[in-house]
Amino acid sequence: MVTRTYVIIVAAGTGTRFGGNMPKQFMQLAGKPVLCHTIDAIRGAIPTSEILLVLSEQGREIWHELCDEYGYDSPRIVLGGDTRSQSVNNALVLIDDADAAVLIHDGARPLVSCGLIQRVAEVISRPEIEGVVPVIPLTNALAARCPDGTVLPVDRSAYCAVQTPQAFRAGLLKDAYSKADGEAMADDAAIFSTYAQRPIASVEGEINNIKITNAIDLKIAEITLANFQF
Ligand code: CTP
Ligand code: MG
Repeated sequence: MVTRTYVIIVAAGTGTRFGGNMPKQFMQLAGKPVLCHTIDAIRGAIPTSEILLVLSEQGREIWHELCDEYGYDSPRIVLGGDTRSQSVNNALVLIDDADAAVLIHDGARPLVSCGLIQRVAEVISRPEIEGVVPVIPLTNALAARCPDGTVLPVDRSAYCAVQTPQAFRAGLLKDAYSKADGEAMADDAAIFSTYAQRPIASVEGEINNIKITNAIDLKIAEITLANFQF
């Protein structure tokens, strides 16, 4: 039985692809920092959850200043690591309850809807489910890269794009992370699949739930917030 819901928000990255003089999660989006949108979405969707906010040492200073400036009440802060996987693990080790549900969400996905968060939380609350991720269809065509620089087209319909929040039974995810022993992977589903070797359920993700990655994504997020209600 799931006893408690934790949400790990990973926001300890440096935003290399985005560029700029401040990591993207602290930048302004429609009047408040990107990270405030993300936290507000989680708080609104699952008010009873315990949030662990993962920040780098430098990021923590910026964040404290922003919280002062905006009168914002920060969730509990955990120090991140050099990779996303290490950042997640630093928060996971603080969760003792093996039966708890843990959602992991990118701080850089501020447009996540209340509905998507609740859908993921509902599915992981089912006793027979151990892991669940939101997925969306691919829009570009897909091909394998060959060592000689050529590409080999593959059947796109066999694949999907995976978003966050991703949710898992805490004990199983912790075991998977300890087996991974510091190895960095793209997301928690990859760690869970490789090291827990359990099936992962899926729910429908959302095209609006973009990850702010390149500078243009922040502009897209502004326009989306100004024009759509979700
Ligand atoms: N993240 C993290 N700790 C890291 C690296 C990433 O908590 N060591 C977080 C980021 O802050 C972000 C999420 O993981 O919210 C997804 O990562 P990504 O979009 O790759 O962000 P960055 O790593 O910051 O960006 P880049 O890869 O361009 O440097
Ligand atoms: Mg990164």
